[in-house]
Amino acid sequence: MRRQFAIVLPAMMVCGIGAVWQASLHSADKPKPTSNQLLMRDKLTQVSRALEGITLDKYDQVEDAAKTLRAISTATGWHIVEQTPQYKRLAKNFQEQAADLERHAQEQNAEAATLDLVRMNITCTHCHQHMREQDK
Ligand code: HEC
Repeated sequence: MRRQFAIVLPAMMVCGIGAVWQASLHSADKPKPTSNQLLMRDKLTQVSRALEGITLDKYDQVEDAAKTLRAISTATGWHIVEQTPQYKRLAKNFQEQAADLERHAQEQNAEAATLDLVRMNITCTHCHQHMREQDK
């Protein structure tokens, strides 16, 4: 029993030190996300809240997620330095799709709300692709 401890304990300590070292390495090379990136990450959370709401018949949650998504989209508009016409169009589409989702959640229309969410997902991708093309 003693012998086992003698092996296990140092092994655990080495792992522990390794984990702390790794964590410090990661925090060092990860820049702090910008406010825009934080808003965008919240979009992911809100989309999954909307999907969960539709799945579980919790339409209040869907409505709330749709409102938040629209608010985030209006807010992020201010953070983009250069808004191309295409960007503006995609942002406007996204806000309209969020408004549709909100309305369909109020009507408890699962079919229409699901389609709204799919449309929104497509707009997410289109806007990100557009941004990447701008970077090139
Ligand atoms: C109208 C344009 C537009 C739409 C629509 C859009 N995004 Fe974005 N998204 C951006 C821009 C611009 C960035 C880059 C932000 C930055 O780096 O400052 C971004 C970045 C992101 C990121 C990465 C953030 C990071 O940590 O680097 C995530 C995640 C994201 N968006 C999620 C979404 C989701 C989910 C949707 C749809 C529900 C969505 N976005 C819709 C413009 C958009």
